[in-house]
Amino acid sequence: MKLAVFGYPIEHSLSPQIHSAFAAQFGRELEYARILAAPEQFSERLQEFHQAGGGGANVTVPLKEIALTLCDDLSERAHAAGAVNTLIRTKQGWRGDNTDGIGLVRDLQRLGVGLKDSRVLILGAGGAVRGVIMPLLNAGVSTLHIANRTAARAERLAAEFAEKFAGVTASSLTAIETERPWTVIINATAAGLQGERPHVSEKILHGQPFCYDMVYGQQPTAFLQWAAEQNCATADGLGMLVEQAAASYRIWTTEQPQTLPVLQALRQQLE
Ligand code: ATR
Repeated sequence: MKLAVFGYPIEHSLSPQIHSAFAAQFGRELEYARILAAPEQFSERLQEFHQAGGGGANVTVPLKEIALTLCDDLSERAHAAGAVNTLIRTKQGWRGDNTDGIGLVRDLQRLGVGLKDSRVLILGAGGAVRGVIMPLLNAGVSTLHIANRTAARAERLAAEFAEKFAGVTASSLTAIETERPWTVIINATAAGLQGERPHVSEKILHGQPFCYDMVYGQQPTAFLQWAAEQNCATADGLGMLVEQAAASYRIWTTEQPQTLPVLQALRQQLE
């Protein structure tokens, strides 16, 4: 099967390695390339890929929203996410799906975080957040609060889901409720990429929520370091990366790969 990941930049993508490891579990031959595509070239690159026999692809930053516009058919979760991270070629054209949210949910489950009737606080209101709201709600989260530096952006996002789900609320980073403890806090802001953490009160850590960062790297992010100093259990987004990949792999092949050995190998490699 001929697959690829499209992004801009793309050279550091771990997806080829992850999918090769999955394929090896089933003795499957897989060709999985990295394709660099600036947003304005993406449509053309995708067409070339299809003409060369490409049957499926992953899409990463900053192309996920554009990918949605190039699809002939969309899954419900891609539609709700407003973004596509998985493309499958069908007779009708490209079908778009989004496995980011289920990747996060599966990783939290693996980490032993119970989501049923839980209270989840998400920091940030960008594209990464939109993709995980529905899957978290479907996993049984009862309160999902979106807090963002720019409160209006969080409020707009919450309003999209609030009609269907009563438990979705929003605020600025400084107006987060601290009375009742949070089960899990997910950092989905880009603050970590600048070595910063979102400016939130220490009081949100009351009750020791599980603290998760969607970003991963060699070092824990400033947010995770801060949470660990307050004795909270923490995890970065490497597991989410592997889980979303597994869900994509399953869409293409119908095979369910084992994620833990792949995650462990990547972690060793990062250290
Ligand atoms: P993505 O698609 O990865 O979510 P994005 O749409 O650029 O990226 O969103 C980045 C998010 O990180 C936003 O929620 C942004 O807050 P604003 O909406 O107020 O811009 C947040 N963010 C970026 N830098 C931040 C910082 N230093 N502190 C807190 N939040 C930050």
